[in-house]
Amino acid sequence: MNKRIKAFVFDLDGVITDSAELHYQAWSRIASEQGIPFDRDYNELLKGISRMESLEKILERKPDACFTASDKEALAARKNDYYKELIGTIGPQALLAGIETLLKDIVGAGIGIALASASRNAPTIIERLGIGHFFQVIVDPADIPHGKPYPDIYLRAASELRVSPKECVGVEDAEAGVQAIKRAGMFAIGIGSSEVLHEADYIVPDSSFLQLQDILDRIDNQKD
Ligand code: BG6
Ligand code: MG
Repeated sequence: MNKRIKAFVFDLDGVITDSAELHYQAWSRIASEQGIPFDRDYNELLKGISRMESLEKILERKPDACFTASDKEALAARKNDYYKELIGTIGPQALLAGIETLLKDIVGAGIGIALASASRNAPTIIERLGIGHFFQVIVDPADIPHGKPYPDIYLRAASELRVSPKECVGVEDAEAGVQAIKRAGMFAIGIGSSEVLHEADYIVPDSSFLQLQDILDRIDNQKD
Protein backbone atom coordinates (compact mmCIF):
# COMPACT_ATOMS: atom_id res chain seq x y z
CA MET A 1 0.00 0.00 0.00
CA ASN A 2 1.26 3.45 -0.97
CA LYS A 3 2.52 5.25 2.15
CA ARG A 4 2.95 8.68 0.60
CA ILE A 5 -0.68 9.61 -0.04
CA LYS A 6 -2.48 11.02 3.00
CA ALA A 7 -5.42 12.79 1.34
CA PHE A 8 -7.64 13.09 -1.71
CA VAL A 9 -8.94 16.54 -2.63
CA PHE A 10 -12.01 16.50 -4.87
CA ASP A 11 -13.58 19.04 -7.14
CA LEU A 12 -17.39 18.72 -7.08
CA ASP A 13 -19.07 19.83 -10.31
CA GLY A 14 -18.48 17.21 -13.02
CA VAL A 15 -16.46 14.97 -10.69
CA ILE A 16 -18.80 13.85 -7.91
CA THR A 17 -22.07 14.67 -9.66
CA ASP A 18 -23.03 15.93 -13.10
CA SER A 19 -23.74 19.48 -11.91
CA ALA A 20 -21.28 20.79 -14.56
CA GLU A 21 -24.10 20.03 -17.02
CA LEU A 22 -26.54 22.03 -14.88
CA HIS A 23 -24.17 25.03 -14.79
CA TYR A 24 -24.02 24.74 -18.58
CA GLN A 25 -27.82 24.71 -18.89
CA ALA A 26 -28.24 27.72 -16.60
CA TRP A 27 -25.57 29.73 -18.47
CA SER A 28 -27.12 28.72 -21.83
CA ARG A 29 -30.41 30.23 -20.68
CA ILE A 30 -28.72 33.51 -19.71
CA ALA A 31 -26.70 33.63 -22.96
CA SER A 32 -29.75 33.01 -25.10
CA GLU A 33 -31.77 35.69 -23.26
CA GLN A 34 -28.94 38.13 -24.03
CA GLY A 35 -28.54 36.99 -27.66
CA ILE A 36 -25.00 35.79 -27.00
CA PRO A 37 -23.60 32.72 -28.81
CA PHE A 38 -22.81 29.91 -26.36
CA ASP A 39 -22.03 26.24 -26.85
CA ARG A 40 -20.40 23.30 -25.06
CA ASP A 41 -16.94 24.08 -26.43
CA TYR A 42 -17.06 27.61 -25.04
CA ASN A 43 -18.50 26.23 -21.79
CA GLU A 44 -15.25 24.25 -21.26
CA LEU A 45 -13.57 27.60 -20.49
CA LEU A 46 -16.04 28.27 -17.69
CA LYS A 47 -15.48 25.00 -15.85
CA GLY A 48 -13.76 25.48 -12.51
CA ILE A 49 -13.93 29.28 -12.52
CA SER A 50 -16.18 31.47 -10.36
CA ARG A 51 -19.69 32.64 -11.20
CA MET A 52 -18.61 36.24 -11.93
CA GLU A 53 -15.57 35.20 -13.99
CA SER A 54 -17.84 32.88 -15.99
CA LEU A 55 -20.28 35.72 -16.64
CA GLU A 56 -17.44 38.03 -17.77
CA LYS A 57 -16.30 35.37 -20.26
CA ILE A 58 -19.83 35.09 -21.68
CA LEU A 59 -20.27 38.87 -21.94
CA GLU A 60 -16.92 39.14 -23.78
CA ARG A 61 -18.77 37.61 -26.71
CA LYS A 62 -20.99 40.69 -27.00
CA PRO A 63 -18.26 43.36 -27.04
CA ASP A 64 -20.52 46.18 -28.28
CA ALA A 65 -22.96 45.89 -25.37
CA CYS A 66 -22.43 47.85 -22.17
CA PHE A 67 -23.21 46.06 -18.90
CA THR A 68 -22.95 48.04 -15.67
CA ALA A 69 -21.76 46.44 -12.45
CA SER A 70 -25.36 46.18 -11.28
CA ASP A 71 -26.46 44.59 -14.59
CA LYS A 72 -23.74 41.99 -14.06
CA GLU A 73 -24.81 41.37 -10.47
CA ALA A 74 -28.38 40.87 -11.66
CA LEU A 75 -27.35 38.45 -14.44
CA ALA A 76 -25.16 36.42 -12.07
CA ALA A 77 -27.99 36.28 -9.51
CA ARG A 78 -30.46 35.16 -12.21
CA LYS A 79 -28.07 32.46 -13.41
CA ASN A 80 -27.82 31.24 -9.83
CA ASP A 81 -31.63 31.17 -9.51
CA TYR A 82 -31.84 29.00 -12.65
CA TYR A 83 -29.04 26.80 -11.32
CA LYS A 84 -30.71 26.40 -7.91
CA GLU A 85 -33.93 25.30 -9.65
CA LEU A 86 -31.92 22.63 -11.47
CA ILE A 87 -30.05 21.34 -8.40
CA GLY A 88 -33.33 21.14 -6.47
CA THR A 89 -33.90 17.62 -7.81
CA ILE A 90 -30.43 16.26 -6.94
CA GLY A 91 -30.39 13.34 -4.50
CA PRO A 92 -28.07 10.39 -3.72
CA GLN A 93 -28.98 8.83 -7.09
CA ALA A 94 -27.09 11.67 -8.78
CA LEU A 95 -23.67 10.50 -7.56
CA LEU A 96 -21.52 9.70 -10.58
CA ALA A 97 -20.52 6.07 -11.21
CA GLY A 98 -17.84 4.72 -8.90
CA ILE A 99 -17.65 7.78 -6.66
CA GLU A 100 -19.33 6.34 -3.57
CA THR A 101 -17.15 3.21 -3.67
CA LEU A 102 -14.05 5.34 -4.15
CA LEU A 103 -14.97 7.57 -1.17
CA LYS A 104 -15.61 4.49 1.01
CA ASP A 105 -12.32 2.88 -0.05
CA ILE A 106 -10.36 6.07 0.68
CA VAL A 107 -11.86 6.37 4.16
CA GLY A 108 -11.32 2.62 4.72
CA ALA A 109 -7.63 3.06 3.89
CA GLY A 110 -7.30 5.78 6.54
CA ILE A 111 -6.76 8.49 3.92
CA GLY A 112 -8.32 11.96 4.39
CA ILE A 113 -10.82 13.64 2.04
CA ALA A 114 -11.41 17.32 1.30
CA LEU A 115 -13.59 19.25 -1.14
CA ALA A 116 -12.04 22.08 -3.17
CA SER A 117 -14.95 23.41 -5.24
CA ALA A 118 -15.27 26.96 -6.57
CA SER A 119 -19.04 26.67 -6.14
CA ARG A 120 -20.82 28.53 -3.36
CA ASN A 121 -23.59 25.97 -3.82
CA ALA A 122 -21.25 23.07 -2.97
CA PRO A 123 -22.37 22.54 0.66
CA THR A 124 -26.02 22.29 -0.48
CA ILE A 125 -25.18 19.75 -3.18
CA ILE A 126 -22.99 17.65 -0.86
CA GLU A 127 -25.85 17.55 1.64
CA ARG A 128 -28.39 16.59 -1.05
CA LEU A 129 -26.08 13.79 -2.24
CA GLY A 130 -25.85 12.49 1.36
CA ILE A 131 -22.03 12.29 1.34
CA GLY A 132 -21.07 14.99 3.86
CA HIS A 133 -19.78 12.40 6.35
CA PHE A 134 -16.92 11.42 4.00
CA PHE A 135 -15.38 14.90 4.05
CA GLN A 136 -13.08 16.14 6.80
CA VAL A 137 -12.74 19.52 5.11
CA ILE A 138 -14.94 21.55 2.76
CA VAL A 139 -13.01 24.64 1.71
CA ASP A 140 -15.13 27.80 1.50
CA PRO A 141 -14.35 29.37 -1.91
CA ALA A 142 -15.50 32.79 -0.60
CA ASP A 143 -12.42 32.68 1.61
CA ILE A 144 -9.95 32.09 -1.26
CA PRO A 145 -8.82 35.26 -3.06
CA HIS A 146 -7.44 33.60 -6.21
CA GLY A 147 -9.61 30.97 -7.89
CA LYS A 148 -8.51 28.10 -10.14
CA PRO A 149 -6.14 27.87 -12.08
CA TYR A 150 -4.33 29.39 -9.09
CA PRO A 151 -3.46 26.63 -6.63
CA ASP A 152 -4.84 28.43 -3.56
CA ILE A 153 -7.98 26.35 -2.96
CA TYR A 154 -5.99 23.08 -3.17
CA LEU A 155 -3.27 24.45 -0.89
CA ARG A 156 -5.93 25.53 1.61
CA ALA A 157 -7.45 22.03 1.53
CA ALA A 158 -4.05 20.46 2.29
CA SER A 159 -3.34 22.90 5.07
CA GLU A 160 -6.78 22.40 6.69
CA LEU A 161 -6.19 18.63 6.51
CA ARG A 162 -2.70 19.20 8.01
CA VAL A 163 -0.93 17.30 5.24
CA SER A 164 1.67 18.39 2.72
CA PRO A 165 0.46 19.02 -0.88
CA LYS A 166 2.82 16.33 -2.17
CA GLU A 167 0.94 13.84 -0.01
CA CYS A 168 -2.32 14.69 -1.85
CA VAL A 169 -4.17 13.54 -4.94
CA GLY A 170 -6.45 16.12 -6.61
CA VAL A 171 -9.39 15.09 -8.81
CA GLU A 172 -10.81 17.45 -11.46
CA ASP A 173 -12.82 17.61 -14.69
CA ALA A 174 -11.69 21.11 -15.76
CA GLU A 175 -8.52 22.40 -17.37
CA ALA A 176 -8.28 25.26 -14.84
CA GLY A 177 -8.76 22.72 -12.05
CA VAL A 178 -5.99 20.38 -13.23
CA GLN A 179 -3.69 23.39 -13.53
CA ALA A 180 -4.55 24.40 -9.95
CA ILE A 181 -3.73 20.88 -8.68
CA LYS A 182 -0.40 20.77 -10.53
CA ARG A 183 0.57 24.25 -9.32
CA ALA A 184 -0.21 23.09 -5.78
CA GLY A 185 2.31 20.25 -6.27
CA MET A 186 -0.23 17.41 -6.02
CA PHE A 187 -0.77 14.30 -8.16
CA ALA A 188 -3.54 15.27 -10.62
CA ILE A 189 -6.33 13.04 -11.87
CA GLY A 190 -8.34 14.44 -14.78
CA ILE A 191 -11.79 13.09 -15.62
CA GLY A 192 -12.79 13.75 -19.22
CA SER A 193 -11.07 14.57 -22.48
CA SER A 194 -7.30 14.02 -22.66
CA GLU A 195 -7.09 16.94 -25.06
CA VAL A 196 -8.47 19.34 -22.43
CA LEU A 197 -6.84 17.72 -19.37
CA HIS A 198 -3.41 16.88 -20.81
CA GLU A 199 -1.56 18.39 -17.82
CA ALA A 200 -3.00 15.73 -15.49
CA ASP A 201 -0.82 12.83 -14.30
CA TYR A 202 -3.61 10.33 -14.90
CA ILE A 203 -6.62 10.87 -17.17
CA VAL A 204 -9.76 8.71 -17.22
CA PRO A 205 -12.75 9.13 -19.55
CA ASP A 206 -15.24 8.98 -16.67
CA SER A 207 -15.39 8.41 -12.92
CA SER A 208 -16.25 4.70 -13.19
CA PHE A 209 -12.56 4.07 -14.03
CA LEU A 210 -11.35 5.41 -10.67
CA GLN A 211 -10.15 2.69 -8.31
CA LEU A 212 -8.17 3.47 -5.20
CA GLN A 213 -5.57 0.69 -5.43
CA ASP A 214 -4.98 1.38 -9.11
CA ILE A 215 -4.45 5.10 -8.41
CA LEU A 216 -2.02 4.40 -5.55
CA ASP A 217 -0.08 1.90 -7.70
CA ARG A 218 0.24 4.49 -10.48
CA ILE A 219 1.64 7.01 -8.01
CA ASP A 220 4.13 4.41 -6.73
CA ASN A 221 5.24 3.67 -10.29
CA GLN A 222 5.55 7.32 -11.25
CA LYS A 223 9.12 8.40 -11.95
CA ASP A 224 10.12 11.43 -9.82
C1 BG6 B 1 -17.30 25.46 -10.28
C2 BG6 B 1 -17.91 25.18 -11.62
O1 BG6 B 1 -17.22 24.28 -9.56
O2 BG6 B 1 -18.11 26.39 -9.56
C3 BG6 B 1 -18.13 26.47 -12.40
O3 BG6 B 1 -17.02 24.34 -12.35
C4 BG6 B 1 -18.97 27.42 -11.55
O4 BG6 B 1 -18.79 26.17 -13.61
C5 BG6 B 1 -18.29 27.65 -10.21
O5 BG6 B 1 -19.13 28.67 -12.21
C6 BG6 B 1 -19.07 28.59 -9.29
O6 BG6 B 1 -20.29 27.97 -8.95
P1 BG6 B 1 -21.47 28.73 -8.17
O7 BG6 B 1 -22.39 27.60 -7.77
O8 BG6 B 1 -20.84 29.42 -7.00
O9 BG6 B 1 -22.07 29.70 -9.14
MG1 MG C 1 -15.54 20.66 -12.05
